Amino acid sequence: MFANVQEVVFAEHGDVRGKLIALETLSSVVPFEVKRVYFIYDTTPGTVRGKHAHRQLRQMLLCVSGACTIECEMPDGTKSKHRLDWPNKGLLVEGMVWHNMKEFSKDAVLLILASEHYDEADYIRDYVAFRQLSNEREWQ
Ligand code: TYD
Repeated sequence: MFANVQEVVFAEHGDVRGKLIALETLSSVVPFEVKRVYFIYDTTPGTVRGKHAHRQLRQMLLCVSGACTIECEMPDGTKSKHRLDWPNKGLLVEGMVWHNMKEFSKDAVLLILASEHYDEADYIRDYVAFRQLSNEREWQ
């Protein structure tokens, strides 16, 4: 099993017309093939989403509009907080990372690129189970 969180900065192509970001799969910024794209928007104020970990899934998160905060907890208990408040800021979240998504601005559109199709069996939705699994396994 593995777990990894990494902040990534995407290259912005800007000129007088505005800005553009291109994300290519199997690149240094998106190191997996994208099988699924989903996005979270029109979020109810004060809501906290996520509250789960995955067993295998690799994801790249970015706010293409507005801002939100991602809180992560690694299997070893290390916690981190990441504010995505501009489209060139990405967060790579891979494997067994407990994560919450919160503090969404009204205009937030959180775009997520995922390495696999939706599979409920890949989810760990019980925090106690996440902690137990974390203590049992060897981590890369
Ligand atoms: P949920 O896991 O609660 O979202 P979040 O992790 O952001 O809190 O998913 C909400 C609903 O959407 C749930 O019924 C499952 C469904 N869903 C899909 O059908 N496909 C997907 O790719 C995702 C992420 C969720």
